[in-house]
Amino acid sequence: MEQLIIASNNAGKIKEIREMVQDIELLSLKDIGFNDEIPEPYDTFEENALVKAMTIHKFSAKNVMADDSGICVNALNGAPGVNSAYFAGLPRDDNKNLQKLLDELAGKEDRWAYYKALICLIWNGETHYFEGTCKGTIAEAPKGTAGFGYDPIFVPEGYDKTFGELDPQIKNRLSHRGIAVAKMIDFLNTQR
Ligand code: IMP
Repeated sequence: MEQLIIASNNAGKIKEIREMVQDIELLSLKDIGFNDEIPEPYDTFEENALVKAMTIHKFSAKNVMADDSGICVNALNGAPGVNSAYFAGLPRDDNKNLQKLLDELAGKEDRWAYYKALICLIWNGETHYFEGTCKGTIAEAPKGTAGFGYDPIFVPEGYDKTFGELDPQIKNRLSHRGIAVAKMIDFLNTQR
């Protein structure tokens, strides 16, 4: 079976990608013996996804996918965006991030936000990008324990529950990552 490395240390992302991608052996960074944090110093999802994929491709010489993603909040001019993972500082703490977002939105009527995922795939030495977005609103308080990151406060458009409350299969169908992964799978199907 063909192999693809997921260039991420984020357990939530890895779980979702594993649920969506079949017919290909997915390897983790642990599987390939890469134990460092991958730097993501740029201001765009595209550049960060590329640097993550390139770092692991150089290390392994194998096919790699990297997801750079985040939540962009209208009333905060698109923040935290590419800084979503470290919004409340180091080390990464999903609960502190979510609480900081709620604090910054306190008293604001505009709760619109969207998630964005940018996947960079290095396949047979060539680089491809797949993008997904998912619109929604930020709830007043966290609800549910499914998903990860900001999911307990993100209500996708057309629903009245957070991703923390919705079935993970529904999230995978609707989400920024679900959309980007589906595009990647369509591409991979043209290659085999
Ligand atoms: P990065 O792509 O490693 O820079 O981190 C992405 C960060 O964005 C995560 O650590 C979460 O804080 C947030 N994020 C991205 N996708 C999701 C999602 O599907 N649910 C909840 N939070 C997400």
